[in-house]
Amino acid sequence: MARFVVPDVSLKDSFLAAMAEFAAEGRTGDGSGLGRDLDEWTGRWESDEGFAEYVAARVAERDTVVDEDWVLNTNLWWVDEKGYIGRMSVRHELNAWLREVGGHIGYDVRRSRRREGHATAMLAAALPVARALGIDRALVTCDVGNVGSRVVIERNGGVPAGERDGKLRFWVPTGPAAGS
Ligand SMILES: CC(C)(COP(=O)(O)OP(=O)(O)OC[C@H]1O[C@@H](n2cnc3c(N)ncnc32)[C@H](O)[C@@H]1OP(=O)(O)O)[C@@H](O)C(=O)NCCC(=O)NCCS
Repeated sequence: MARFVVPDVSLKDSFLAAMAEFAAEGRTGDGSGLGRDLDEWTGRWESDEGFAEYVAARVAERDTVVDEDWVLNTNLWWVDEKGYIGRMSVRHELNAWLREVGGHIGYDVRRSRRREGHATAMLAAALPVARALGIDRALVTCDVGNVGSRVVIERNGGVPAGERDGKLRFWVPTGPAAGS
């Protein structure tokens, strides 16, 4: 059964195979966190040392502010017995851009494992993570045309909150409302 794990060097082979699938979709440098990783780490994370550095950098974002425009961020990988399936990142707070466009939670599922319910299950599993960080309702956004992601958010109880810069915004309760 699929589950979250903290990024780990043991997942190198399946992680790199997944990244090749994302690169083949044109994700390199597309402005997303995944696109930035493809841009910055391709050519480095293929070696054991480079991959260990990459993994350490992703884990460190949980408690180290890496850039003044960045907020603390918990990165988790969704895996099963076949290895890496996808990733989820939960931002611990919203800065001005995240509040409008980026949201609290971002996710990607590798192409070869889509339409198996993984994104829906990953977002459901991320909500208690967000709640434990003190987030009562998580802002989750998707491109206006991203039907799959919109369904994933709606299946997790997302309440529409308008559109900004071509992104649909939703507030997703992370647990029972206070007092209910
Ligand atoms: C969007 C994405 C995360 C969906 O992942 P997934 O694991 O395939 O999603 P699920 O299997 O949980 O799909 C849930 C439902 O969404 C709908 N859906 C998913 N992909 C779809 C697509 N390409 N077109 C139309 N509907 C789609 C389906 O109704 C699906 O349920 P069903 O398979 O029972 O019919 C994945 O396609 C992805 O990583 N895309 C690229 C990156 C991205 O868009 N990330 C999200 C940024 S907000």
